[in-house]
Amino acid sequence: MKLWGGRFSRDTALEAENFNASISVDSRLYLQDIEGSKAHALMLGKCGIISTDEAAEIINALEEIRLELESGSADLKNDAEDIHMNIEKLLIEKIGETGKKLHTARSRNDQVALDLKMYLREEIHKILKLLTELEALLLDKAEEHAGTIMPGYTHMQKAQPVTLGHHFMAYFEMFKRDMGRFRDCLKRMDAMPLGSCALAGTTYPIDRKMVADILKFSDITQNSIDAVSDRDFVIEYISCCTFVMMHLSRFCEELIIWNTEEFGYIEMDDGYSTGSSIMPQKKNPDVAELIRGKTGRVYGDLISILTVMKGLPLSYNKDLQEDKEAVFDAGDTLKSCISVFIPMLASVTVNREKIMNNLKGGFLNATDLADYLVKKGLPFRDAHEAAGEMVKYCIAHNKELIELSMDEFRKFSCCIEEEIYEFLRPEVCLSRRDTEGGPSEQRVREAVLRGREFVNRFAEAADQ
Ligand code: ARG
Repeated sequence: MKLWGGRFSRDTALEAENFNASISVDSRLYLQDIEGSKAHALMLGKCGIISTDEAAEIINALEEIRLELESGSADLKNDAEDIHMNIEKLLIEKIGETGKKLHTARSRNDQVALDLKMYLREEIHKILKLLTELEALLLDKAEEHAGTIMPGYTHMQKAQPVTLGHHFMAYFEMFKRDMGRFRDCLKRMDAMPLGSCALAGTTYPIDRKMVADILKFSDITQNSIDAVSDRDFVIEYISCCTFVMMHLSRFCEELIIWNTEEFGYIEMDDGYSTGSSIMPQKKNPDVAELIRGKTGRVYGDLISILTVMKGLPLSYNKDLQEDKEAVFDAGDTLKSCISVFIPMLASVTVNREKIMNNLKGGFLNATDLADYLVKKGLPFRDAHEAAGEMVKYCIAHNKELIELSMDEFRKFSCCIEEEIYEFLRPEVCLSRRDTEGGPSEQRVREAVLRGREFVNRFAEAADQ
């Protein structure tokens, strides 16, 4: 017998029942559902809508159901459709008539919105913790490589010298923004929807604030129609997940490139690489590739919920049930990716020598040469032109700028002096890049210190 069976004269067709059921997906909301129901029952008792004894009986029974679900002794069934009705059914089986009173002044529509918000806020805390760990690792790596000069690239072409530490700190900034996005998302979803009921609130004298307080929401939703129609918080959460995935994916792509024979900047640890079934020599960066690949599915989750919501009339429609697979998949995928990315990055070996050798070729110091001429009084455009001609000459004669003789330099500009050789050394070029937020060793060390303050502040706030 369905909990809503009164107005029906025949059973749901089996195909329809199975099609409609979401228990296989939403069973993981059991804890939030039970906590929400306990708060609701307590409030019903306090407001005199049910007796306080009845409220206590319901709360005790819900607690027993929780234990039974956790020990595997209670069954969740397809014919009870979803987690909300399964738990209500178990409650009625357990305590009979009193159990039937729990759903007073409530609907599954506000119930599911509540459960999902409670679930996601916990997920966000878990994700923030993982991101904090990742940030701490990046700071260690950046500190270790604050002085490791390497070629910086634009268009995948050698551009100007930077440090590996600075490159790591670029990712630190990205993940820091991602953490901010999750925190914003958390703030906006901090409104308790219960009491909106199906869509039009209720005729019972409920106390919504009391439920919000028990469930640790700082506010209640302000419009009953919006509260049961709204999945903005789901979209925002998945969108936050896509940002992190995109950043991880870019990072993985770089690690994959750096790990190639051609670059050889790093070597992935054996523990995070796999072999080939045919080519005995192979060691492939599968884990990094798979993180890059899984980014696609999290983007898919975002598109899926955006598409579900598009054109959906107010208020609740069953389409909304489709939000769960997307939102669970996005969070699970993200957590598993960050969790494996951290030890993978931690175990990477950096080949300083290969990186340093690669400072040759590509004329990383050509901008510095132009800057030198500016120092000697040339306007930048003319200096750029002259440096470009020297590069062209070097390409034709298979030389580095630093290998030109004084006579050769002077053919292009009479103001070049002996000091040019020192001026163009990669270490010297780098140390001059001392802009705030720039790549010099000193600036990277400062950035790491600021980063540590951020991570410590964040970890402290999370503990409270
Ligand atoms: N399983 C449903 C969902 O996830 C719960 C709400 C159902 N409400 C309804 N009126 N059918 O969206």
